[in-house]
Amino acid sequence: MLWPMCGIVGYVGSQQALGIVIEGLRRMEYRGYDSAGIAVVDRSGADARLAGAKKAGKLANLEKELDVRPLPASTTGLGHTRWATHGGPTDGNAHPHFSDSAGVYTDLTGKVAVIHNGIIENFARLKAELAAENVTFLSETDTEVVAHLLARDFDEAGDGDLGAAMRRVVNRLQGAFTLVAVHADAPDVVVGARRNSPLVIGVGQGEAFLASDVSAFIAHTREAIEMGQDQVAEIFRDGSVRITTFDGEVVEGKRFHVSWDASAAEKGGYDWFMQKEIAEQPQAVADTLLGRVNGQGRLKLDEMRLSEDELRAITKIIVVACGTAYHAGLIAKYAIEHWTRVPVEVELASEFRYRDPILTKDTLVIAISQSGETMDTLMAIRHAREQHSRVLAICNTNGSTIPRESDAVVYTHGGPEIGVASTKAFLTQLTACYLVGLYLAQVRGVKFNDEVAEVLTQLSDSPAAIAETLNRMEPVRKLARSMVGARTVLFLGRHVGYPMALEGALKLKELAYIHAEGFAAGELKHGPIALIEQDLPVVVVVPSPKRPLLHDKIVSNIQEIRARGAKTIVIAEDGDDVVAPYADFLFHVPELPILLQPLVATVPLQVFAAELADALGYDVDQPRNLAKSVTVE
Ligand code: M6R
Repeated sequence: MLWPMCGIVGYVGSQQALGIVIEGLRRMEYRGYDSAGIAVVDRSGADARLAGAKKAGKLANLEKELDVRPLPASTTGLGHTRWATHGGPTDGNAHPHFSDSAGVYTDLTGKVAVIHNGIIENFARLKAELAAENVTFLSETDTEVVAHLLARDFDEAGDGDLGAAMRRVVNRLQGAFTLVAVHADAPDVVVGARRNSPLVIGVGQGEAFLASDVSAFIAHTREAIEMGQDQVAEIFRDGSVRITTFDGEVVEGKRFHVSWDASAAEKGGYDWFMQKEIAEQPQAVADTLLGRVNGQGRLKLDEMRLSEDELRAITKIIVVACGTAYHAGLIAKYAIEHWTRVPVEVELASEFRYRDPILTKDTLVIAISQSGETMDTLMAIRHAREQHSRVLAICNTNGSTIPRESDAVVYTHGGPEIGVASTKAFLTQLTACYLVGLYLAQVRGVKFNDEVAEVLTQLSDSPAAIAETLNRMEPVRKLARSMVGARTVLFLGRHVGYPMALEGALKLKELAYIHAEGFAAGELKHGPIALIEQDLPVVVVVPSPKRPLLHDKIVSNIQEIRARGAKTIVIAEDGDDVVAPYADFLFHVPELPILLQPLVATVPLQVFAAELADALGYDVDQPRNLAKSVTVE
């Protein structure tokens, strides 16, 4: 089943909530863009009520609606962007959902408003119970149940304590959920609850925020608090915050400072976030590498909470990840095995726990996730920890669930990635994987210090090589724009070029909606070569000629497909002219050792997919059917 994975924002303070909530939703629209909605506490009349607006489609539709029917001024509000499945993407199913225990509510007003990310698994039973008490439902969503329960509970208790009402209600719910609610009769507080879905608190001067991620409030404050599982947060107008467990015990949230600022989450003159994020890759990789070497020239990983003894005891590594992060893991296998001689398996997180993997306390599970919230990956690490394996997260999002539930974390420090397609996240994940491999080699004594230092030097050269690659992208853009008629594109590679081929194909599928497949070049002759026909575009990632065995083989593969009519688009290293006679299009990338080649050779694949998608008129940042953070299994 697919479940909503939406963006959530709540605000209370002294500023106008409408502007702040819409701005937050804009920054979080990447999380879901099937509908958007907002509610504010309206205290203009004698009887305090909520006022709201919601519209199917992108946030722009909601903004147009607000232009036509403005909401009253208010300093307390919440908003939501939705990735729909549970109830179609209609105005009525858009969040917030409203209620009033007196029965005076519509789909745009009432006493209480609730927004939600996740699923209430027992909603059918709760709905039947409420329906038996003549509660009228206005939507097909599970969320609406919570609005009615909260309205009734708040009024029955009669103490004006929305936090306490939320605690009582969440204890009746099953499933995974983030909930945020406001009540017209408690205008100085916004309440949120978290179980298995992200929610973070922003603490400003005389104002506070609740959001799915920090980008929603980064323009107002960089001070944030992580929320743990099964906790309720109450944020108050004076900026104070109270966090309790679902049982009411007061707990201290972990405070953190967000290291990037609002400009990092803006397009900054680029047409799309993805274009900006591709351009940011040299800096992002440099940031991943920053501060990793100590005074003695030894590699250090500050957030590595596993002891050297524990790391020496490891007998097997299993990388678990999804999508692009999985491709980073496939590449990491080549490097980590080569440097450490520890066997590495790479597993799609969604398959991992269902195949009864062999896990012991000496297995290191490396979970790679940009968002730190991918449910498949989260479930995989929970399974690994239940089997007493150690878990190391490679993650870009401070305070997210996967690093919180891991034994150790290496943050990639890539800054926010808003475009749904992973670009800088991929290169920084790769970089972090290289660091982990080298660190293990150092700790386990299988590489001398100068050998580790040599690779670190090569890694520190990579940002300049990526920047140089970016400078050469105009012909790639031109080629992509000439290929709007392509129906199928194949990608081939060998060694680390094979996962790169998978990544190139994934990018093209998700952005340009073109059928694309990545193959290990040597595997082609075992079947897929039958797909080759006249003028079929085939992208080939060529390894360095300094690896003649590999290089010769792939040159033969190129000849084989060309002989069958393929149009070959070849990515090769500077100075590699051997491939030139067999390439219809040849792009050179700067030289790096083969294990690091993905840091440069992936860039043309990203640019190619994005440009082709744009030429086809598609939304590059928000491809259809997708969401940035997949918080569902
Ligand atoms: O946040 P994560 O790195 O865990 O996300 C995993 C995948 O959903 C993600 O890499 C996805 O494949 C990319 N958006 C594709 O470009």
